[in-house]
Amino acid sequence: MAVIGFIGSGLVGSAVARRALAAGHQVVMSNSRGTRSLARLVREFGPAARAATPGEAATVADLVVLAIPYGKFPRLPRDELTGRIVLDACNYLPYRDGRDRAIDEGRTSTAEVLAQRLPYSTIVKGLNTIAAGQILADATPPGTPNRRAIPIAGDDIIAKQIVARFIDDLGFDAVDAGPLSGGRGPHFDPRTAWQPPLTAPALAAALT
Ligand SMILES: NC(=O)c1ccc[n+]([C@@H]2O[C@H](COP(=O)([O-])OP(=O)(O)OC[C@H]3O[C@@H](n4cnc5c(N)ncnc54)[C@H](OP(=O)(O)O)[C@@H]3O)[C@@H](O)[C@H]2O)c1
Repeated sequence: MAVIGFIGSGLVGSAVARRALAAGHQVVMSNSRGTRSLARLVREFGPAARAATPGEAATVADLVVLAIPYGKFPRLPRDELTGRIVLDACNYLPYRDGRDRAIDEGRTSTAEVLAQRLPYSTIVKGLNTIAAGQILADATPPGTPNRRAIPIAGDDIIAKQIVARFIDDLGFDAVDAGPLSGGRGPHFDPRTAWQPPLTAPALAAALT
C-alpha cells in the first residue's frame, strides 16, 4: 500500500484515484480551487481518501500523479515536489493551453518541459494515452488475455519500475518506451495514441 498524491482531480485524476483505491492504495486529492471543492469526491471515495493542497499532496506522497492542463504547469509546487516521482499524465492541447512552438516543432515534449520546471523531481510520462473513461472501463487483472498496455517514458529506471508496478495495480501492463524524450513520439501523442488499444507485445513491437 502506498500513498498516491494527486495534483489534478478532474476526469483523469479521479479515474486513476478510483483504480488506485481499488488496489488498496491511499489517495490524497488536490486541485486549484481548494479542499472544500473536493469534499464530495473524497467522501464518495471513503476513508482511504482525503483532500489537500497540491503542496501537501506532493509532500506526503510516495508517488505523485499529475493530471492538470499543460498550460497550468507554471503553478506547480516546485519545492514540495522535490525528491518526488511524478507520473505525468498531462497533454498539450493548443486550443486550451496556448501555442508552444518548441512542442509543435518536435523540439521538446510536455514531460521534458516539466522536468525543466521540476529539476529536483523524477518525471515519468504515462497514462496520457488512455482516455479517462477507459482507465475505468479497460482495466483488467494481471495475466488477463489481451490486457491493455500503456507506454511509459523516463530517464530513471527505478522510477519507471515503480510507475510500472503502479500501472499494473491500476489494471494495465506498462511498456517501457525509453527515455523521457521518447515522449515526443507518436505513441504519446494524444491525437494518434488513443486507438486501437494495444497489448504489451504489440505495443513493444510498435515502439521498435
Ligand atoms: N480527459 C481525458 O480523457 C484525458 C486523457 C489523458 C490525458 N489527459 C490530460 O490529462 C490532464 C487532465 O485532464 P482532465 O481531463 O482530467 O482535466 P479536467 O477534468 O479538466 O481536470 C483538471 C484538473 O486539474 C486541476 N488543476 C488545474 N490547475 C491546477 C493547479 N495549478 N494545481 C492543481 N490542480 C490544478 C483542476 O482543478 P480545478 O477544477 O480546481 O481548477 C482539475 O481538478 C490534461 O493535461 C489532459 O489533456 C486527459
